[in-house]
Amino acid sequence: MVDAVFLLRFYNDYFYTLYYPTIPLTDGTGEFTKGMAGWTQVEEYQDDFTVLKNWRVSKFADKEEKLAAMSVEDILKDEELKSYAVATSKVLFGDYCAGCHAAGGAGNPNFPILADDDWLWGGSVKQIETAMVNGRIGNMPAKGMMGNLSEQEMQDVTDYVMALSEGKGEDVAFTAGKAAYTKGMCLACHGPAGKPLAPTGSANLTDQVWRFTGLPGADLRTEAYNTIAYGVNVKKDGQYIAGTRQAYMPSFKERLPDADVNIKRLAIYVHALGGGQ
Ligand code: HEC
Ligand code: HEC
Repeated sequence: MVDAVFLLRFYNDYFYTLYYPTIPLTDGTGEFTKGMAGWTQVEEYQDDFTVLKNWRVSKFADKEEKLAAMSVEDILKDEELKSYAVATSKVLFGDYCAGCHAAGGAGNPNFPILADDDWLWGGSVKQIETAMVNGRIGNMPAKGMMGNLSEQEMQDVTDYVMALSEGKGEDVAFTAGKAAYTKGMCLACHGPAGKPLAPTGSANLTDQVWRFTGLPGADLRTEAYNTIAYGVNVKKDGQYIAGTRQAYMPSFKERLPDADVNIKRLAIYVHALGGGQ
Protein backbone atom coordinates (compact mmCIF):
# COMPACT_ATOMS: atom_id res chain seq x y z
CA MET A 1 0.00 0.00 0.00
CA VAL A 2 1.28 3.43 -0.82
CA ASP A 3 2.07 5.44 2.25
CA ALA A 4 -0.57 8.10 2.78
CA VAL A 5 1.97 10.56 4.08
CA PHE A 6 4.06 10.07 0.97
CA LEU A 7 1.01 10.81 -1.15
CA LEU A 8 0.30 13.89 0.87
CA ARG A 9 3.83 15.09 0.43
CA PHE A 10 3.66 14.53 -3.26
CA TYR A 11 0.34 16.27 -3.36
CA ASN A 12 1.69 19.22 -1.42
CA ASP A 13 4.64 19.64 -3.73
CA TYR A 14 2.51 19.30 -6.78
CA PHE A 15 -0.14 21.62 -5.51
CA TYR A 16 2.27 24.31 -4.50
CA THR A 17 4.17 24.08 -7.71
CA LEU A 18 0.95 25.06 -9.38
CA TYR A 19 -0.15 27.56 -6.84
CA TYR A 20 3.17 29.26 -6.20
CA PRO A 21 5.23 28.34 -9.23
CA THR A 22 8.18 30.44 -8.12
CA ILE A 23 8.31 29.54 -4.48
CA PRO A 24 10.08 26.30 -3.81
CA LEU A 25 8.71 24.34 -0.91
CA THR A 26 11.13 21.48 -0.79
CA ASP A 27 14.78 21.57 0.14
CA GLY A 28 15.75 19.67 -2.96
CA THR A 29 16.00 16.26 -1.34
CA GLY A 30 12.34 15.54 -1.83
CA GLU A 31 11.78 15.83 1.88
CA PHE A 32 9.16 18.33 2.82
CA THR A 33 10.98 21.12 4.55
CA LYS A 34 11.34 20.29 8.18
CA GLY A 35 10.08 22.79 10.64
CA MET A 36 7.51 24.08 8.22
CA ALA A 37 4.90 25.50 10.52
CA GLY A 38 1.98 23.24 11.11
CA TRP A 39 3.30 20.13 9.38
CA THR A 40 2.26 17.83 12.18
CA GLN A 41 -1.27 19.04 11.90
CA VAL A 42 -1.36 17.65 8.40
CA GLU A 43 -1.87 14.12 9.68
CA GLU A 44 -5.25 15.07 11.04
CA TYR A 45 -6.42 15.72 7.53
CA GLN A 46 -5.00 12.65 5.90
CA ASP A 47 -8.28 11.47 4.46
CA ASP A 48 -9.51 14.70 3.16
CA PHE A 49 -7.48 16.43 0.50
CA THR A 50 -10.02 19.19 0.15
CA VAL A 51 -9.83 20.15 3.76
CA LEU A 52 -6.07 19.94 3.56
CA LYS A 53 -5.97 22.07 0.48
CA ASN A 54 -8.13 24.75 2.00
CA TRP A 55 -6.14 24.64 5.18
CA ARG A 56 -2.85 25.01 3.33
CA VAL A 57 -4.05 27.77 1.07
CA SER A 58 -5.29 29.81 3.97
CA LYS A 59 -2.23 28.96 6.04
CA PHE A 60 0.27 30.09 3.45
CA ALA A 61 -1.76 32.84 1.84
CA ASP A 62 -1.85 34.45 5.22
CA LYS A 63 1.91 34.18 5.62
CA GLU A 64 2.57 35.38 2.10
CA GLU A 65 0.36 38.38 2.70
CA LYS A 66 2.20 39.17 5.88
CA LEU A 67 5.56 38.92 4.14
CA ALA A 68 4.33 41.30 1.47
CA ALA A 69 2.95 43.79 3.96
CA MET A 70 5.57 43.82 6.71
CA SER A 71 9.03 45.38 6.81
CA VAL A 72 12.01 43.04 7.00
CA GLU A 73 12.74 44.31 10.52
CA ASP A 74 9.25 43.32 11.67
CA ILE A 75 9.39 39.95 9.92
CA LEU A 76 12.63 39.27 11.78
CA LYS A 77 10.89 39.81 15.12
CA ASP A 78 8.16 37.28 14.30
CA GLU A 79 9.71 33.85 14.91
CA GLU A 80 7.08 31.88 13.01
CA LEU A 81 7.17 34.13 9.96
CA LYS A 82 10.94 34.16 10.07
CA SER A 83 11.10 30.34 10.00
CA TYR A 84 8.65 30.32 7.17
CA ALA A 85 10.73 32.81 5.16
CA VAL A 86 13.90 30.80 5.76
CA ALA A 87 12.25 27.49 4.87
CA THR A 88 10.85 28.85 1.61
CA SER A 89 14.11 30.55 0.53
CA LYS A 90 16.56 27.71 0.06
CA VAL A 91 15.75 26.74 -3.50
CA LEU A 92 15.27 30.37 -4.46
CA PHE A 93 18.75 31.14 -3.12
CA GLY A 94 20.10 28.16 -5.04
CA ASP A 95 18.56 29.38 -8.28
CA TYR A 96 19.31 33.09 -8.04
CA CYS A 97 22.23 33.61 -5.69
CA ALA A 98 24.37 30.51 -5.32
CA GLY A 99 25.85 30.87 -8.80
CA CYS A 100 27.95 33.71 -7.41
CA HIS A 101 27.82 33.33 -3.63
CA ALA A 102 27.90 29.48 -3.56
CA ALA A 103 25.48 27.20 -1.73
CA GLY A 104 24.66 28.46 1.74
CA GLY A 105 26.44 31.76 0.96
CA ALA A 106 29.86 30.17 1.49
CA GLY A 107 31.40 32.50 -1.12
CA ASN A 108 33.46 31.88 -4.24
CA PRO A 109 36.73 33.56 -5.24
CA ASN A 110 35.79 37.14 -6.22
CA PHE A 111 32.39 36.93 -4.55
CA PRO A 112 31.83 37.77 -0.92
CA ILE A 113 30.87 35.20 1.68
CA LEU A 114 27.37 35.85 3.00
CA ALA A 115 27.52 33.33 5.82
CA ASP A 116 30.04 35.16 8.02
CA ASP A 117 29.96 38.38 10.00
CA ASP A 118 32.36 40.21 7.68
CA TRP A 119 30.17 42.61 5.74
CA LEU A 120 31.19 45.02 3.00
CA TRP A 121 27.93 46.93 3.08
CA GLY A 122 26.58 46.06 6.51
CA GLY A 123 24.83 43.00 7.90
CA SER A 124 21.55 44.39 9.16
CA VAL A 125 18.55 42.79 7.52
CA LYS A 126 17.70 46.18 5.99
CA GLN A 127 21.19 46.54 4.47
CA ILE A 128 20.95 43.00 3.09
CA GLU A 129 17.58 43.84 1.54
CA THR A 130 19.03 47.03 0.04
CA ALA A 131 21.85 45.02 -1.57
CA MET A 132 19.24 43.07 -3.53
CA VAL A 133 17.03 46.05 -4.31
CA ASN A 134 19.75 48.38 -5.60
CA GLY A 135 22.62 46.03 -6.34
CA ARG A 136 26.10 46.86 -5.06
CA ILE A 137 29.17 48.05 -6.87
CA GLY A 138 32.44 48.45 -5.03
CA ASN A 139 35.01 50.94 -6.29
CA MET A 140 38.69 51.13 -5.57
CA PRO A 141 41.06 53.27 -7.63
CA ALA A 142 44.32 51.75 -8.93
CA LYS A 143 47.57 52.60 -7.08
CA GLY A 144 45.92 54.67 -4.38
CA MET A 145 43.30 57.37 -4.46
CA MET A 146 45.38 59.61 -6.74
CA GLY A 147 46.99 56.75 -8.65
CA ASN A 148 50.36 58.14 -7.62
CA LEU A 149 52.09 55.32 -5.73
CA SER A 150 55.54 54.41 -7.06
CA GLU A 151 56.53 50.78 -7.61
CA GLN A 152 58.50 50.81 -4.33
CA GLU A 153 55.50 52.25 -2.48
CA MET A 154 53.28 49.60 -4.06
CA GLN A 155 55.54 46.83 -2.74
CA ASP A 156 55.71 48.47 0.70
CA VAL A 157 51.97 49.00 0.99
CA THR A 158 51.35 45.38 -0.06
CA ASP A 159 53.67 44.21 2.72
CA TYR A 160 51.79 46.47 5.12
CA VAL A 161 48.41 45.04 4.05
CA MET A 162 49.69 41.48 4.55
CA ALA A 163 51.01 42.51 7.97
CA LEU A 164 47.64 44.07 8.89
CA SER A 165 45.94 40.73 8.26
CA GLU A 166 48.35 39.12 10.71
CA GLY A 167 47.94 41.81 13.35
CA LYS A 168 51.47 43.12 12.73
CA GLY A 169 50.59 46.50 11.23
CA GLU A 170 52.33 48.41 14.02
CA ASP A 171 55.60 46.51 13.59
CA VAL A 172 58.48 48.94 12.69
CA ALA A 173 59.33 46.74 9.71
CA PHE A 174 56.21 48.12 8.01
CA THR A 175 56.71 51.85 8.64
CA ALA A 176 57.33 52.55 4.94
CA GLY A 177 54.20 50.60 3.99
CA LYS A 178 52.15 52.48 6.53
CA ALA A 179 53.38 55.77 5.05
CA ALA A 180 52.40 54.56 1.56
CA TYR A 181 48.98 53.59 2.97
CA THR A 182 48.58 57.18 4.14
CA LYS A 183 49.89 58.64 0.87
CA GLY A 184 47.54 56.42 -1.15
CA MET A 185 44.65 57.57 1.06
CA CYS A 186 43.68 53.94 1.55
CA LEU A 187 42.31 54.95 4.92
CA ALA A 188 39.51 56.94 3.31
CA CYS A 189 37.85 53.61 2.54
CA HIS A 190 39.64 50.95 4.57
CA GLY A 191 39.93 52.99 7.76
CA PRO A 192 43.02 54.28 9.55
CA ALA A 193 44.27 50.82 10.52
CA GLY A 194 42.65 48.60 7.90
CA LYS A 195 39.19 48.52 9.42
CA PRO A 196 36.53 50.55 7.61
CA LEU A 197 34.89 53.08 9.92
CA ALA A 198 31.51 52.56 8.27
CA PRO A 199 30.21 50.03 5.75
CA THR A 200 30.99 51.54 2.34
CA GLY A 201 31.75 48.40 0.38
CA SER A 202 35.44 48.26 1.23
CA ALA A 203 36.96 45.29 2.98
CA ASN A 204 38.24 44.89 6.47
CA LEU A 205 41.97 44.32 5.87
CA THR A 206 42.72 43.24 9.42
CA ASP A 207 41.10 39.82 9.15
CA GLN A 208 42.06 36.72 7.23
CA VAL A 209 39.07 36.90 4.91
CA TRP A 210 40.33 37.43 1.37
CA ARG A 211 37.94 37.90 -1.42
CA PHE A 212 40.26 38.23 -4.40
CA THR A 213 42.20 35.03 -4.10
CA GLY A 214 42.73 34.33 -7.79
CA LEU A 215 42.97 30.79 -9.10
CA PRO A 216 43.41 27.92 -6.66
CA GLY A 217 46.95 27.89 -5.36
CA ALA A 218 47.60 31.54 -6.23
CA ASP A 219 49.87 33.50 -3.92
CA LEU A 220 47.85 35.77 -1.60
CA ARG A 221 50.44 38.56 -1.59
CA THR A 222 50.50 38.64 -5.39
CA GLU A 223 46.71 38.78 -5.46
CA ALA A 224 46.64 41.62 -2.94
CA TYR A 225 49.30 43.48 -4.95
CA ASN A 226 47.20 43.06 -8.10
CA THR A 227 44.07 44.38 -6.40
CA ILE A 228 46.02 47.46 -5.25
CA ALA A 229 47.66 47.89 -8.66
CA TYR A 230 44.53 47.59 -10.82
CA GLY A 231 41.79 48.50 -8.35
CA VAL A 232 38.20 47.33 -8.30
CA ASN A 233 35.79 48.14 -11.15
CA VAL A 234 38.21 50.70 -12.62
CA LYS A 235 37.05 51.89 -16.01
CA LYS A 236 38.65 54.00 -18.71
CA ASP A 237 36.56 55.29 -21.60
CA GLY A 238 33.68 53.15 -20.37
CA GLN A 239 35.73 49.92 -20.48
CA TYR A 240 37.21 47.98 -17.57
CA ILE A 241 40.99 48.42 -17.52
CA ALA A 242 42.99 45.22 -17.90
CA GLY A 243 43.54 43.46 -14.58
CA THR A 244 40.93 45.37 -12.59
CA ARG A 245 38.74 43.31 -10.25
CA GLN A 246 35.24 43.21 -11.64
CA ALA A 247 32.90 43.08 -8.68
CA TYR A 248 29.32 43.78 -9.31
CA MET A 249 26.15 42.66 -7.60
CA PRO A 250 23.16 43.20 -9.89
CA SER A 251 19.86 44.60 -8.69
CA PHE A 252 17.25 41.91 -8.26
CA LYS A 253 14.21 44.17 -8.48
CA GLU A 254 13.56 43.09 -12.07
CA ARG A 255 15.31 39.73 -11.96
CA LEU A 256 13.45 37.89 -9.24
CA PRO A 257 9.90 36.76 -9.85
CA ASP A 258 7.57 38.35 -7.28
CA ALA A 259 10.49 40.49 -6.20
CA ASP A 260 8.47 42.46 -3.65
CA VAL A 261 8.02 39.49 -1.43
CA ASN A 262 10.95 37.32 -2.53
CA ILE A 263 13.59 39.95 -1.78
CA LYS A 264 12.27 40.16 1.77
CA ARG A 265 12.18 36.40 2.07
CA LEU A 266 15.81 36.14 0.91
CA ALA A 267 16.94 38.99 3.15
CA ILE A 268 15.63 37.06 6.15
CA TYR A 269 17.35 33.91 4.88
CA VAL A 270 20.73 35.59 4.28
CA HIS A 271 20.51 37.30 7.66
CA ALA A 272 19.94 33.89 9.25
CA LEU A 273 22.92 32.30 7.45
CA GLY A 274 25.07 33.16 10.37
CA GLY A 275 26.39 36.65 10.07
CA GLY A 276 23.36 38.90 10.34
CA GLN A 277 23.72 41.87 12.66
C1 HEC B 1 26.33 37.81 -10.75
C2 HEC B 1 26.84 37.49 -9.45
C3 HEC B 1 25.95 37.70 -8.25
C4 HEC B 1 24.68 37.20 -8.02
C5 HEC B 1 23.85 36.31 -8.94
C6 HEC B 1 24.30 37.64 -6.71
N1 HEC B 1 25.29 38.39 -6.16
FE1 HEC B 1 25.25 39.23 -4.32
N2 HEC B 1 27.05 40.09 -4.70
C7 HEC B 1 27.82 39.89 -5.82
C8 HEC B 1 29.04 40.68 -5.72
C9 HEC B 1 30.17 40.73 -6.72
C10 HEC B 1 28.94 41.37 -4.48
C11 HEC B 1 29.94 42.35 -3.92
C12 HEC B 1 29.75 43.69 -4.52
C13 HEC B 1 30.84 44.61 -4.10
O1 HEC B 1 31.97 44.40 -4.52
O2 HEC B 1 30.58 45.53 -3.34
C14 HEC B 1 27.70 40.96 -3.86
C15 HEC B 1 27.25 41.43 -2.64
C16 HEC B 1 26.13 40.98 -1.99
C17 HEC B 1 25.71 41.39 -0.68
C18 HEC B 1 26.46 42.36 0.21
C19 HEC B 1 27.52 41.58 0.93
C20 HEC B 1 28.30 42.36 1.96
O3 HEC B 1 29.33 41.83 2.39
O4 HEC B 1 27.89 43.45 2.35
C21 HEC B 1 24.57 40.70 -0.37
C22 HEC B 1 23.77 40.77 0.90
C23 HEC B 1 24.25 39.88 -1.51
N3 HEC B 1 25.22 40.06 -2.48
C24 HEC B 1 23.17 39.02 -1.59
C25 HEC B 1 22.81 38.34 -2.73
C26 HEC B 1 21.59 37.56 -2.85
C27 HEC B 1 20.59 37.31 -1.75
C28 HEC B 1 21.55 37.12 -4.13
C29 HEC B 1 20.44 36.33 -4.81
C30 HEC B 1 19.20 37.03 -4.96
C31 HEC B 1 22.76 37.58 -4.80
N4 HEC B 1 23.49 38.32 -3.92
C32 HEC B 1 23.09 37.30 -6.11
C33 HEC B 1 27.52 39.11 -6.90
C34 HEC B 1 26.30 38.45 -7.08
C1 HEC C 1 37.58 54.55 -2.76
C2 HEC C 1 37.70 53.51 -1.77
C3 HEC C 1 38.98 52.70 -1.72
C4 HEC C 1 40.27 53.13 -1.65
C5 HEC C 1 40.79 54.57 -1.67
C6 HEC C 1 41.09 51.95 -1.51
N1 HEC C 1 40.32 50.84 -1.51
FE1 HEC C 1 40.97 48.92 -1.34
N2 HEC C 1 39.08 48.24 -1.68
C7 HEC C 1 37.98 49.04 -1.87
C8 HEC C 1 36.87 48.21 -2.29
C9 HEC C 1 35.48 48.72 -2.60
C10 HEC C 1 37.36 46.91 -2.36
C11 HEC C 1 36.60 45.70 -2.84
C12 HEC C 1 35.67 45.16 -1.88
C13 HEC C 1 36.33 44.20 -1.08
O1 HEC C 1 37.20 44.65 -0.32
O2 HEC C 1 36.06 43.02 -1.18
C14 HEC C 1 38.77 46.96 -1.94
C15 HEC C 1 39.60 45.85 -1.86
C16 HEC C 1 40.91 45.89 -1.43
C17 HEC C 1 41.75 44.73 -1.23
C18 HEC C 1 41.34 43.30 -1.47
C19 HEC C 1 40.79 42.66 -0.23
C20 HEC C 1 40.42 41.22 -0.42
O3 HEC C 1 39.70 40.72 0.45
O4 HEC C 1 40.81 40.57 -1.40
C21 HEC C 1 42.97 45.19 -0.81
C22 HEC C 1 44.18 44.36 -0.47
C23 HEC C 1 42.89 46.64 -0.75
N3 HEC C 1 41.61 47.02 -1.13
C24 HEC C 1 43.90 47.46 -0.37
C25 HEC C 1 43.89 48.83 -0.57
C26 HEC C 1 45.05 49.69 -0.41
C27 HEC C 1 46.41 49.25 0.06
C28 HEC C 1 44.66 50.96 -0.74
C29 HEC C 1 45.49 52.21 -0.85
C30 HEC C 1 46.64 52.11 -1.72
C31 HEC C 1 43.24 50.88 -1.07
N4 HEC C 1 42.82 49.59 -0.95
C32 HEC C 1 42.46 51.96 -1.41
C33 HEC C 1 37.91 50.41 -1.71
C34 HEC C 1 39.01 51.25 -1.64
